[in-house]
Amino acid sequence: MENFEQRQHGERAILVSVSVQLLDDLDAEEFRLLAQSAGAEILEHVSVQRQKPDPKFFIGSGKVEEIAELVRALDAELVIFDHSLSPAQERNLEKVLKCRVIDRTGLILDIFALRARTHEGKLQVELAQLKHLSTRLIRGFTGNLEQQKGGIGLRGPGESQLETDRRLIRVRITQLKDKLIKVQQTRLQGRAARQKAAIPTISLVGYTNAGKSTLFNILAKSDVYAADQLFATLDPTLRRLEWDGIGTVVLADTVGFVRNLQHDLVESFKATLEETLEATLLLHVVDSSSPNMPEQIEAVESVLKEIGADAPILHVYNKIDLSGDTAKITYKAPELPDRVYLSAHSGQGLDLLSQAVQQCLMGQLQQFDLVLNPAYGKLRTQLYTLNVIQSEHYDDEGDLHLSVCIAPHKLEQLIKQAHLPLDEIVGAKSFLFHRVLEEFESKQE
Ligand code: GTP
Repeated sequence: MENFEQRQHGERAILVSVSVQLLDDLDAEEFRLLAQSAGAEILEHVSVQRQKPDPKFFIGSGKVEEIAELVRALDAELVIFDHSLSPAQERNLEKVLKCRVIDRTGLILDIFALRARTHEGKLQVELAQLKHLSTRLIRGFTGNLEQQKGGIGLRGPGESQLETDRRLIRVRITQLKDKLIKVQQTRLQGRAARQKAAIPTISLVGYTNAGKSTLFNILAKSDVYAADQLFATLDPTLRRLEWDGIGTVVLADTVGFVRNLQHDLVESFKATLEETLEATLLLHVVDSSSPNMPEQIEAVESVLKEIGADAPILHVYNKIDLSGDTAKITYKAPELPDRVYLSAHSGQGLDLLSQAVQQCLMGQLQQFDLVLNPAYGKLRTQLYTLNVIQSEHYDDEGDLHLSVCIAPHKLEQLIKQAHLPLDEIVGAKSFLFHRVLEEFESKQE
């Protein structure tokens, strides 16, 4: 964010979780990780057992008093609830606790604000933050909010917008929406340029704490291009590197996924994941030592579906040093890896990852040099719509020479759909065309 000021020290926070039964250790740990990701210094984690939320404070008034006491004793600046609070509950709590209170949505938006990288991502997050904020403008605890620049939940637009009124926020929301439309148009052009350049993007996704960043650093460091100026300086979560057997690829690290991502947060989450949406291959990093592994995989894959990421997925079962699995690749079809078991810590299985990625990418994109009779304009139109044509020219005979970069199965599908006589598509240099031509020739004989 333009007006974002990172605090030098962690913000002194008390965490509050409410559950019907005793708080689940894993939920508690996840909440702590989230708060830490936003830069909180955790002073205390209070667990409250309650059947249903109290309309005024979310928790009972006795508990509020206890927490107020803790805030004073520990000199806390912030109390974070692991739940959605209504604006009124937030206000009532701030009045009694005499410090800022934010809820889970505010916390997650804050992490997105820190991690949003692209212009579009920043605008999306700012928009979501403003919407969240606009209902919370009249604060019970206004104390010294003005001095609290850049605190958790106030980052991004927060610190300046808190001082403005709702009308200004509405104006800003309209401006942001207009800007977003323009940025989205530009992005589509940028994406087309990248597709033409045909640099595959590999995006690391996964549940928070699965080990994405650890793996990213290892992969980026092991490469001679790790310090590539363009990406290294612009963005710590993107690297251009040379992958064995593939050539240049862009590797992207992403913000961790969490459960219970509310629907209205999905858009801003999506904006932090631009590379994921455009990736050639997704490496879904899984913590194979977590007792919650199945739920975590499910949470990640359902969010991927919701945001419309449809790239092929290679599962990376990380932390085998803890889970006791052996380093291996499992396949869903010959030559098509499904899972790689490895440990980013011990290095076991990293060579297998390199091999599996190679197999996945090789199966996906290939260069084809086609020569098309002018009558096959329909195929050209389809290739053009897919944005896979890298160069084209007509020769003296009027034939069209096309250089395309596309997954072989996709090209095969297009040719079949167009009912084209394959023997007349000259100049195909790939195995696909050899194979298809062989089939064709054997039928002719
Ligand atoms: P978020 O940023 O929250 O999304 O997490 P992340 O997926 O980027 O995880 P990160 O790389 O920060 O790793 C989380 C923790 O797991 C760290 O403490 C790592 O040191 C640890 N870790 C990562 N890989 C391994 C592994 O192979 N074995 C073990 N034992 N620990 C690991």
